[in-house]
Amino acid sequence: AELHVREFVIEAKPLKRLCRTHQTITVNGQFPGPTLEVRNGDSLAITVINRARYNISLHWHGIRQLRNPWADGPEYITQCPIQPGQSYTYRIKIEDQEGTLWWHAHSHWLRATIYGALIIYPRLGSPYPFSMPKRDIPIILGEWWDRNPMDVLRLAQFTGAAPNVSDAYTINGQPGDLYRCSKPETLRFPIVPGETVQLRLINAALNQELFFTVANHQLTVVEVDSAYTKPFTTNVVMLGPGQTTNVLITANQRPGRYYMAARAYNSANAPFDNTTTTAILEYVNRPSGRGQITPVFPVLAGFNDTATATAFFNRLRYYKRAPVPLQIDENLFFAVGLGLINCTNPNSPRCQGPNGTRFAASMNNVSFVLPRTNSVMQAYYQGIPGIITADFPPVPPVQFDYTGNVSRGLWQPVKATKAYKLKYKANVQIVLQDTSIVTPENHPMHLHGYQFYVVGSGFGNFDPKRDPASFNLFDPPERNTIGTPPGGWVAIRFVADNPGAWFMHCHIDSHLGWGLAMVFLVENGVGQLQSVQPPPLDLPRC
Ligand code: C2O
Repeated sequence: AELHVREFVIEAKPLKRLCRTHQTITVNGQFPGPTLEVRNGDSLAITVINRARYNISLHWHGIRQLRNPWADGPEYITQCPIQPGQSYTYRIKIEDQEGTLWWHAHSHWLRATIYGALIIYPRLGSPYPFSMPKRDIPIILGEWWDRNPMDVLRLAQFTGAAPNVSDAYTINGQPGDLYRCSKPETLRFPIVPGETVQLRLINAALNQELFFTVANHQLTVVEVDSAYTKPFTTNVVMLGPGQTTNVLITANQRPGRYYMAARAYNSANAPFDNTTTTAILEYVNRPSGRGQITPVFPVLAGFNDTATATAFFNRLRYYKRAPVPLQIDENLFFAVGLGLINCTNPNSPRCQGPNGTRFAASMNNVSFVLPRTNSVMQAYYQGIPGIITADFPPVPPVQFDYTGNVSRGLWQPVKATKAYKLKYKANVQIVLQDTSIVTPENHPMHLHGYQFYVVGSGFGNFDPKRDPASFNLFDPPERNTIGTPPGGWVAIRFVADNPGAWFMHCHIDSHLGWGLAMVFLVENGVGQLQSVQPPPLDLPRC
């Protein structure tokens, strides 16, 4: 096993996209940031030096951080942010994980430009469960704003309205040739006729689920969220923000040029960017003169094609029999969705949401508020009162029909900082139910510190009598982020075997900012936390 020592300098750099140059927050001047390549069993020591003018923290999305929540990264949850001029070293151990993950800023909207791939190869000599091609290409999907995303966020926080949508989607930081001024930088991926390569797809977009397709080529899915799947072929991959999917692609078409493209899947009737980001898969040694000059364009799923998105997710299976917990100790039901907060003065400049309200979002009617004076984990570890209360409700305070036309009066979210306590090694089931309040919408829910099995999903209201009978307890996919279908539910299971304070939230950042989050406090078996590593000496202070 190896120790990878790296320095990540957070700094503003002028970047030009869509005809305009503006100061962009980067890591080491790169956008996307550096790719980390490690092996299962390795360790990382990444010193983050903050030379920007914003507080920041970095999160290693999907790394379990066993007994080491201090390296997880979400600001005010496991650490105070790294202030301008300060630094912090994330000491990470990879334990029994391999595949594609990624890292990103976990402070406000800095993640719009601060992200990169984190690739974990198997231990030396340990095989893949499928025949692994020689070449591996990270494909990171993102969003680009024509101005500082932090200003976009700040304006939305002031008005209470939905933030401006992005100006482009991107592949490895480039919008591609369908956008203005982007043609010369359009990425080209050369491929030898007959060759198979693995694409490591990462959805790093801030607020948008995306469909990904390559013209005329089939994609064979072999892994999601650092867990192998039973291979299956598809024309289109659906990824919610936070999710990763590895696919194999073989150059078995007429030698030529083919677009790979990503476009939004928009489950809500909300404004969104209806454009397409492209890169070009380019056969090498193609006959000159006769090959296509213009790349072949793929058929993309429609922006509201919930059927295609659902069909894709429903095909995922763990690559072997999965150790799914069978006896459930904690049976939780979380209603997740948007909400609107009424204003006393609906004409106020701070109430520019629908009908003079402010947007909010909640889980079981609690709209999560980040503490500002300390992190939840420090408060938990040191027994500091007044930061968080362990009274997050296991079921919604009001049960109602979640399938639509929900009266807002039923659902005025309460702002609070609440956690739910789990006993060490408890077998946990959570049913996540979209409330359809404001609009039915897919919420890609991410749990820190864990991988979970997705045992079932469906549309409409979850029926606790009927639906569990159809759960897949044999080979359900293992993930760290899963979408609640719009107007539907999804059920996940995991064993609470990682003590600490772990964030669970919607990975659509506008929803996270509106409070679609909660925290699990996981004990170590005797009600205390001796088995969690002590906090590092350089842990930032608030
Ligand atoms: Cu990838 Cu809490 O985030």
